[in-house]
Amino acid sequence: MIKLPTLQQLGFILISFFVVSCSEQESSTTSNIAQDSSGNMTVRDTPKGLDYEFYKESIEPIFIRYRGGFVGSDTACVACHTVQANAPLGLVALTEENGEVYWTEEQSRQNFENVAMLVNPSDPESSRLLLAPLSPIVGGERHSGGIFWNSTDHSEYRLVADWIATGDPRASADPVVEVDFEFFRSCVQPIFVNPIENAMPCTECHSGVFAIPPPANAYWTEEQSRLAFEELVYLIDQGRPDSSRFLHKPLHPNAGGDLMHNGGRRWYSKDDPERQALASWIRGDSVGSQCPSALQFDNPPRP
Ligand code: HEC
Ligand code: HEC
Repeated sequence: MIKLPTLQQLGFILISFFVVSCSEQESSTTSNIAQDSSGNMTVRDTPKGLDYEFYKESIEPIFIRYRGGFVGSDTACVACHTVQANAPLGLVALTEENGEVYWTEEQSRQNFENVAMLVNPSDPESSRLLLAPLSPIVGGERHSGGIFWNSTDHSEYRLVADWIATGDPRASADPVVEVDFEFFRSCVQPIFVNPIENAMPCTECHSGVFAIPPPANAYWTEEQSRLAFEELVYLIDQGRPDSSRFLHKPLHPNAGGDLMHNGGRRWYSKDDPERQALASWIRGDSVGSQCPSALQFDNPPRP
């Protein structure tokens, strides 16, 4: 069982890391340490030592850049990446005032924190922020938003890479979380054939992807579970339940869910026990085939 530290703990770990390494090699790291007004030690421009001014001047404008349209890669990143649309690159919704649209200083700081989760100064090229917009032909990754950069020479790619290089190469990468397949097969997959009252089962509309129906009167085969799992992982931001589309789409908008889902709502609150059990799995905390009570179903019969 992997226990993830909270963000606050991570920040503390990062600071302790600098303080410890600072006492070891005084001269090279002192520039990362500043004292705030109350005399506490802080790490300048955290997280990961990344340069905030550089971010604000050169990276944030990439997210808001007008690209000529409203479909796929003609769309500005921000159109899909605010809280409402809930894709992993969590940008704060823009402030609109007197016909102007912008991020306030405080909002930019918040964006900076969120975006930093997607970069990895100790292994820059593996940064999700570099891989998503990049064409898979040159090493990028599958991205619903489309292809924005055809090569690593693209000016935006270069800017992002330069920004990542301002970070501390020793800052530890975000802990890698992997959702457990066994837990999916035993405890998650049955959700797709067990609708709540007055709703259709997920299999009705998502049978081609993650909600493959089981064979008649039997449980899914191992292979069917594998296929469904791979499709569902794509709708999960591992380690971060709230930015996972799987938990966002079927959540009611009043509870912070997506504004639209053709399949209706399954959860009306983030405290829904079923949703909480799923969140724990996405955080990497639930593994194996013992299902918590919120995820125990009789249908289909277990093998
Ligand atoms: C048309 C909507 C859309 C646009 C425009 C868009 N994205 Fe995305 N993006 C998504 C969705 C949906 C996801 C989550 C699923 C996925 O990875 O495809 C995502 C995922 C991501 C991720 C996380 C990938 C991962 O590892 O999970 C990053 C980083 C990202 N986008 C960056 C960008 C950047 C930078 C831009 C602009 C240059 C952009 N996106 C434009 C829809 C969009
Ligand atoms: C009546 C048909 C229907 C049912 C039932 C349904 N959905 Fe959907 N779902 C859709 C459609 C259509 C879309 C795409 C358009 C949209 O976002 O509404 C979608 C989108 C989604 C997405 C986002 C997919 C993506 O690629 O971004 C997720 C996640 C999702 N549904 C989960 C579920 C889950 C979980 C269930 C069962 C609890 C469910 N849906 C039941 C019709 C349905």
